[in-house]
This record gives sequence, structure tokens and C-alpha cells, in this order.
Amino acid sequence: MKILVTGGLGFIGSHTVVELVNAGYEPVIIDDLSNSSIKILDQLAKIIGYKPKFYKLDLCDEEAVNNFARQEPEIGGIIHFAAFKAVGESVKLPLKYYRNNFFSLINILNAYAGKALNFVFSSSCTVYGQPDVLPVTEDAPVKAAQSPYGNTKQIAEEILKDVITAGSKYKIISLRYFNPVGAHETALIGELPIGVPQNLVPFITQTAIGKREKLTVFGNQYNTPDGSNIRDYIHVVDLGKAHVAALKLAEKESFKGFDVFNIGTGTGTSVLEVIKAFEQTTGVKLNYQIGPARAGDVEQVWGDVTKSTNELNWKTELDVNVMMSSAWNWENYLAQNPL
Ligand code: UD1
Repeated sequence: MKILVTGGLGFIGSHTVVELVNAGYEPVIIDDLSNSSIKILDQLAKIIGYKPKFYKLDLCDEEAVNNFARQEPEIGGIIHFAAFKAVGESVKLPLKYYRNNFFSLINILNAYAGKALNFVFSSSCTVYGQPDVLPVTEDAPVKAAQSPYGNTKQIAEEILKDVITAGSKYKIISLRYFNPVGAHETALIGELPIGVPQNLVPFITQTAIGKREKLTVFGNQYNTPDGSNIRDYIHVVDLGKAHVAALKLAEKESFKGFDVFNIGTGTGTSVLEVIKAFEQTTGVKLNYQIGPARAGDVEQVWGDVTKSTNELNWKTELDVNVMMSSAWNWENYLAQNPL
């Protein structure tokens, strides 16, 4: 079955493409290359043995999306990753975020409206804000969004629910990711930040390899055991597999409408513990300092994954040490083979 993967050359998208092929699906990629490299297509070919079908296309261009749907009428499912995701930038440029993240979602939904397609949406644990109860379950209240980025995820979930309420034939699963990190075991694909990384793990690996002078830990006075923030880091390969599991669930006759799932490991790891795991697995000493807290950071969040374990029949297999060693292997690969 052909699966459309929007944003399929991005970090999570590319790893999901590999897992789709492993599961016997045929991925068809759309990407506008705004936050990815065309070279990832060749990297994917090295892993899966052929170059997947690729369309360079801006999903905000309604006509282009409709043309695509006419060219690819055989699509049997959609995994929609394509979206902007930098929290800080979204605060400065809200309209850029609302325009891109909503227009693209609406255009792709419209293009295949009327067909009984399975649709997997990239959502985020950011919808929970700072949860009152940890680990956070899917029925926890969605809190007022802290950023336009977070708001696009919340509203997108509302849009998807409304589409189902209106009687659409789509079957929709929203996956609320916790913190995806790591890289493929071949070290041929991984996270490719443009400019200075905003996220923790690429900042760690770039510091370790000498691209950045020093990592700053954003605060150590939080109400957590070691004072630093806690997150639920999940290996991107496990995350890719969660998308395959979501498609399989949506394919079942019994699955109807819309549902959401937490996609994490179910355990929290602090920033300082991540640094320690990096140093221990790689043997590389990291230059870091404690700095002030970052505005808008949630203190601690990790997910209850009972629902995804039971209903998606999926669970994570790779621990924080594999996350760190694979991210480090990828950084070293990039140093030898700049993309
Ligand atoms: C946040 C969102 C996540 C969203 C992501 C998009 C929450 C809980 N999570 O991730 O849903 O998909 O943004 O980018 O809202 N850190 C440092 N030094 C650094 C970088 C990060 O100490 O140089 C710390 C942060 O303070 C945080 C942790 O590392 O505690 C993880 O940060 P990051 O990788 O940016 O992800 P989140 O902010 O958790």
C-alpha cells in the first residue's frame, strides 16, 4: 500500500519512511525542503535499497496539492509530518506558523476528502503544558498553549476532530510525541538542524564534536531531584515504528473516527541525566555550564503510555544510552560526510 509521508525528508519523517518500508509499505514523500536536505533522499536509498518516490512541493499551494492527489490516486494512507516546529521562532513569527501549519493540513485533507484514508498526525506533548498529574495520560486537560507552535498542534487536533464529527470517511490518529532524539543505527540519517540547534541532543553532539563551544543547561533550580528539567526522551526509530503501528490500528475495521495516543517511553530523564548518559556511552567529556532557565520551559513532563502499549500494540525498545550513542555516531558521520 502506498503511504504519503509529508515532511518525509525531515528527522522523524525519514526514520518513519525506513520503518514503513520494513513493514512492507511503499512510501511516497512530499517535502518542500524548507527544513531538510534533498541529500536525505540518497541516504534513504542507501538504507532501503531504492530511492523512494519524491515530490518537492509546498503543501500551502492548494493547486499543487490537488495536482499531486490527481497524480497519486492510489494513496492508501497519509502520515502528515510537514510543519514548522521551532517554539521560539513561532513566538516571533506567529503568522508564518499559523499559515504554514494550518494551510498545509487543510489542503492535504481536502485533496483526499471523500476517500476512506487512514491519517496519522504529528502532534506533541506540548498540548499538555505543565500537567497537574505525572505521568500524563491522554485524557489530561489540554492547557492554554505557551506558543503559537503549541497552539497549531492543539487547534490541528480540534480541526481533525471536527472533520470526523462532520462525517468524513477519514480515520485519524493523532500521535502526541514526547522528545524524539537519536538516529538510525546505520548513522546514514538523523537530525539535521539548520543553524544553531534549539533542541538539547543536537546541541550536545555539536558541542562534543567541537562545532559549539559549550552547552548551557537551562536551569538547575527546578523542583526536580537534580534541579534540571525532566522530559520523556524517545528514540526516533521507536517513534517511526509507532507510526506503522498507528496505520495498522487505523486499518482495522473496528477503528472508527479519531483518537490520540501518547508516544514516549513512560519514563522521565533530567537534562543532567541525559548529559551523564552521553558521557558514559560515548566516553566523551562534555563542556557544559549551568545557565538561567529558558523562558516558557515546562518543568517536568513524561507520558503514561498504557494506552499506546495496549491499543497500538507498540512499545519502545531503545534506551537513553542507545539514543546518545546513535546521535553521536550520526554527528561523527556528518563530520566525515557533510550533507
Ligand atoms: C518542546 C516541546 C515539544 C516540542 C519541541 C519542539 C514541551 C514539554 N516540549 O520540547 O513538544 O515538540 O519543543 O522543538 O513543551 N535544554 C538545555 N540546553 C539546551 C537545549 C535544551 O538545557 O541548549 C533543555 C531544555 O531546557 C529542556 C530540555 O533540554 O529542559 C529539552 O529541550 P528541547 O530539546 O528544546 O525540547 P523541549 O523544549 O522539551
